[in-house]
Amino acid sequence: MTLGKEETPTTFTLEPRDSILGSALRIKLSPNTNYLTIHYSTLPEAAALGWMDASMTAGKKRPFLFTQGQAILSRTWFPCVDSPSSRFTYAAEIETPDGMMALMSAKNPQQVSPDGMYKFEMDKPVPPYLVALAVGDISFQPIGKRTGIYAEPSMLKKAAWEFADMEKMVETAEGLYGPYDWGRYDVLVLPTGFPFGGMENPILTFATPTVITGDRSLVSLVAHELAHSWSGNLVTNATWDDFWMNEGFTVYFERRIMEALYGAEYVEMLAQLEFWELEDEVRAFGEKNPDTHLKGNLKGRNPDDGVGDIAYQKGASFLLMLERLTDRNKWDEFLKNWFQANKFTSKTTEDFLAYLKTDYLEKHGLTANVDEWVYGPGIPANCPRPNSTKLAIAEKAATNIVNAIPATKEWTPHEWVHFVRNLPKKTTVETLKKLDSQFNLTNSGNAEIRCAWYDTAIRRGYVKEILPQVEEFLVGIGRRRFLMPVYTALKETGHVEDARRIFTKAKPGYHAVSYGSIEQLLK
Ligand code: BES
Ligand code: ZN
Repeated sequence: MTLGKEETPTTFTLEPRDSILGSALRIKLSPNTNYLTIHYSTLPEAAALGWMDASMTAGKKRPFLFTQGQAILSRTWFPCVDSPSSRFTYAAEIETPDGMMALMSAKNPQQVSPDGMYKFEMDKPVPPYLVALAVGDISFQPIGKRTGIYAEPSMLKKAAWEFADMEKMVETAEGLYGPYDWGRYDVLVLPTGFPFGGMENPILTFATPTVITGDRSLVSLVAHELAHSWSGNLVTNATWDDFWMNEGFTVYFERRIMEALYGAEYVEMLAQLEFWELEDEVRAFGEKNPDTHLKGNLKGRNPDDGVGDIAYQKGASFLLMLERLTDRNKWDEFLKNWFQANKFTSKTTEDFLAYLKTDYLEKHGLTANVDEWVYGPGIPANCPRPNSTKLAIAEKAATNIVNAIPATKEWTPHEWVHFVRNLPKKTTVETLKKLDSQFNLTNSGNAEIRCAWYDTAIRRGYVKEILPQVEEFLVGIGRRRFLMPVYTALKETGHVEDARRIFTKAKPGYHAVSYGSIEQLLK
C-alpha cells in the first residue's frame, strides 16, 4: 500500500544484534519524507509467535497461532519503534488456511471468512506492544451487546458461562472511570500454551484457558484485563521503568470493579493473598533492594525482569493509600480526570506525580509520603494491610493439621490455596496422602490449587506418588506463573533430572516467554 504520492528507493543498515534489544534498523530519509514503506518478512522463530500444532489445542484438529507483544517482542515479528512511548494506528490483511478465523487487537469478524481473507483496522493510536494476532479454529458467542467470547468450539459454551458477567463489568468500569473508548470488548480463550493469565490486547483480551474452572472463581482476571482498557491502553507507561503505572493502577481498578460486583469481603480475600505474595517478594529481594522501588531501573536489563509483585501490589497499595487520605469520591474524580486528560498518550511516573500534587493533594489540602512510596525501598509503614477473616480460618486449619483434617465444604479455591501454602514444613507424607485422598488435590480441576499443592507436596517429600500428575500438569499448560513454582520445587528438592526430562517433553508446547524462563532455571 502506498500512502505517499510517489515512492523512491532508499538505503538502510541493520546494526549488530544486542542480546536483549535485537538489531536496530536505520533507514536513510530525506527531509521531505512523510511516509515510509518497509518490505519485510518474518521468520517463524520470531519470539512473539506461538505456533501450537493441532495436538496442543482443545479440538486437536487444527493448529493455532497467537502473538505476544509485551514487553519487547513486537519487534520480533514486524519492524516498529518498539517503545511504549510510541503510538500508531494500524491496518492489516491476513490470509489464513480454509476454515480458520483470524483475530487482531482491532475491530474483529464474528464469522469465518469463506475465502480465508481478513481485513483489520485499528483506528486508535496504540503502542507497539498492543498489536496482536491469533489464528485458529475459533467461534464466537455474544455475552452482552458489546461483549462476547471467542474460543475453540469445544470451549466456547463453558467460557461464555464462566464470563457471563463481562457486560456488567464494562458498565461498572465505565461508572467508575469514564467511557469505554474502544467500541467492543471481547475475550479470546487461547490454547493452554498461552504463557500468561491474560493479556490486555485492545478490544480483544487474550486469556489462558486455565481460568475456565466451571465455578467462576477466577473471573477477576477479566476485570483486570478490562481495567487495562483505561490504565495501560488509554494512558500507557512511557517507559518500562514506569510499568507500575500500567499494572499497579490496573490491580487497583480491578479490585474496584470486583468490589462493586461481588462485595468488599471477597475482594479483601483476593487482596490479602496477593499482599502476602508482595511481602514474600520483598523479603526475597531484601527490604533495602532498589528493585523494590515502584519506579523501576531496568537500564541494561530485559524489561521482563521488572514484572513482579512490586509493580502490581505495591503499586495498587500506593493508590489505595492515596484513596484513603480523603473520601473516595474525590479520589475517583481525580483518577477519572487523569484518564480523560491523558487519553491515547504515554506518561511517566513523574507526569503522574505532578498531576497528583496539583489536582489531588494540593487541591484537597492533603499530604502524603509520595517520594518514599515511589523512590524508596520496601513496604512503607502507612501501607494499607488487607485483613481477610476467611483466610485466617484456612490458615488456622493448616497449622492445626496434625490434630484435625478440616471441614472445608464451603471453601473457595482461594481458601484452598492459602490452606495448602500454609501446611507446616514438617507435615508428614502420610498426612499429605490423607488430605489428597479426601480432597483429591493432586487432580484438582483448578490450576491455582494444583500449582500450590504440587509446590507444597514436593517440598514435603510427597513426590514419587504424584509425579505422573505433576508431569501431566507441566506438559499440559504453558502459563509461566504455574510452571515456575513447580519446576523450582523439583529443582530445589533434588529432582532436577525429572524436571529436565519433563521440560524436554513439554517444551514444544511452551511459548518462548515461558521456555526462556524455565531454561534459565534448569540450566
Ligand atoms: N499485561 C499483563 C501481562 C504481561 C506483563 C505480559 C508484562 C508481559 C509482560 C497482564 O495484564 C497481567 O497482568 N496478567 C496477569 C494476570 C492478572 C489477573 C494479574 C498474568 O498473566 O498472570
Ligand atoms: Zn495487567
